[in-house]
Amino acid sequence: MFSLEITKDYQELSERAAELVVKQLKKKANSVLGLATGSTPLGCYEQLVKLYKAGELDFSGVHSVNLDEYRGLAAEDKNSYRHFMDENLFSKINIVKEHTHVPDGMEENREKACKDYDAEILSVGEIDLQILGLGLDGHIGFNEPADFFSKGTNCVRLTDETIESNQRFFRSKEEVPREAYTMGIGSIFSAKKILLLVSGKAKAGILEKALKGPVTPRVPASILQFHRDLTVLADEEAASALS
Ligand code: F6R
Repeated sequence: MFSLEITKDYQELSERAAELVVKQLKKKANSVLGLATGSTPLGCYEQLVKLYKAGELDFSGVHSVNLDEYRGLAAEDKNSYRHFMDENLFSKINIVKEHTHVPDGMEENREKACKDYDAEILSVGEIDLQILGLGLDGHIGFNEPADFFSKGTNCVRLTDETIESNQRFFRSKEEVPREAYTMGIGSIFSAKKILLLVSGKAKAGILEKALKGPVTPRVPASILQFHRDLTVLADEEAASALS
């Protein structure tokens, strides 16, 4: 069972998502937040910054773990997810930098990078609220369609669809890294609460598959149907294929 809230548009979705984060932080000031990058959560982060600047939020006790990072991109690279988070959220609120965790894209040794990130995730404790976006192919984090659900952090080869979809952030398709480190589905699933944000017509078909179709690693997000505390926030366009 999940709760589905349909919003008029992206703006309303972002405001509602921020409201749910605020609710979480009011309940537990030292919450662990699982954070996503990409276009979808940007509006929510903007709202959170606004509320922080208005004196309504305090992130000093918050810890965060991000879902993923491109393999081969340094924190300073403007396309790295660490940079994205610093730019769009962390540098604008009073979260303690040492409390924020993103996989190390510069660790070349895949096994070590994954092991290290799993240890970081464990060190912050249970994720209280995990924010997720939805990939066009049903990925969550960078867990692409596969034969099985991943458990812990893993190194993935991005699919052509994901590379094409993400090239909008780069100068050319060739510049998009081919691999990424991502938190595993098992770790994502261990979060106490999950908030899935989905916006736009292009996501309507995959959202319908993820929520109504069979639970299968071919549609990684479909596993969320089994989660005990999932809220799906979708705008009207994204929800248009759900009857
Ligand atoms: C990013 C992430 C991805 C995105 C997904 C949707 O950290 O984990 O799963 O959430 O690719 O991206 P947007 O929001 O750009 O459509």
